[in-house]
Amino acid sequence: MEEQTRSEILKTIPYGFYITGVIGEDGEVNGFTTCWVSQVSFHPQQVIVAVRKDQHTHDLIESGGVFSLNFLDTSQEELARKFTEPLQHENGKVGGQDYTPGEATGAPLFEDAFAHLECRVTGKLEAGDHTVYLGEVAAANLKRPADILTDLDTPMEYGG
Ligand SMILES: Cc1cc2nc3c(=O)[nH]c(=O)nc-3n(C[C@H](O)[C@H](O)[C@H](O)COP(=O)(O)O)c2cc1C
Repeated sequence: MEEQTRSEILKTIPYGFYITGVIGEDGEVNGFTTCWVSQVSFHPQQVIVAVRKDQHTHDLIESGGVFSLNFLDTSQEELARKFTEPLQHENGKVGGQDYTPGEATGAPLFEDAFAHLECRVTGKLEAGDHTVYLGEVAAANLKRPADILTDLDTPMEYGG
C-alpha cells in the first residue's frame, strides 16, 4: 500500500520533455525521449540527465561522452511518443527526423526541436537502474520561442 502511495507521489513531480541526442564513439547516432532532466549548476552551467542502463542509447552516451537536449513544444506529443521506441539511423535520419551534428560535440540536433543544448559529460552517478550523467553546456541554440511540452500536457508519464 505504501509502495503505491510512494509511486503516486513520485508521479506528481512535473517534467519537461526532450529528445536526448547521443553519438557513440564509433559515430552511431540516436535519440530518445527523456524527462528526467534538470539544471544543477549556474557556474559552470550544468545539467543532469538520467538514462536507463538497459537502453541501447545508454551505451552510446557512455562511449561517446556527449549528449544534446532537444526541447519539444506543446504541439509535439507525437514526436515525443515516437522517440520512446528503439529507433534506427536510416538515410541520415533517426526515426525519420532530420538532424545536424552539433558543432561543439557532434551530438545530433533535431530540426523540429525549438531549442538545443549541447553538453559534454563531466561526471556520472550510479542510480539503481539508471545512470545520472552530469553534462556541462558547451553550446546553445534557440530556433524559435515556444512553451515546452510537459507531463501536464499529455497522458505520457515516466516515474513512480
Ligand atoms: C514520458 C517518457 C519519458 C521518458 N523519460 C526517460 C528518461 O528520462 N530516461 C530514460 O532513460 N528513458 C526515458 N524514457 C524511455 C525511453 O524514451 C525509451 O526507453 C527509448 O526507447 C530508449 O531508446 P533506446 O531503446 O533506443 O535506447 C521515457 C519514456 C517516456 C514514455
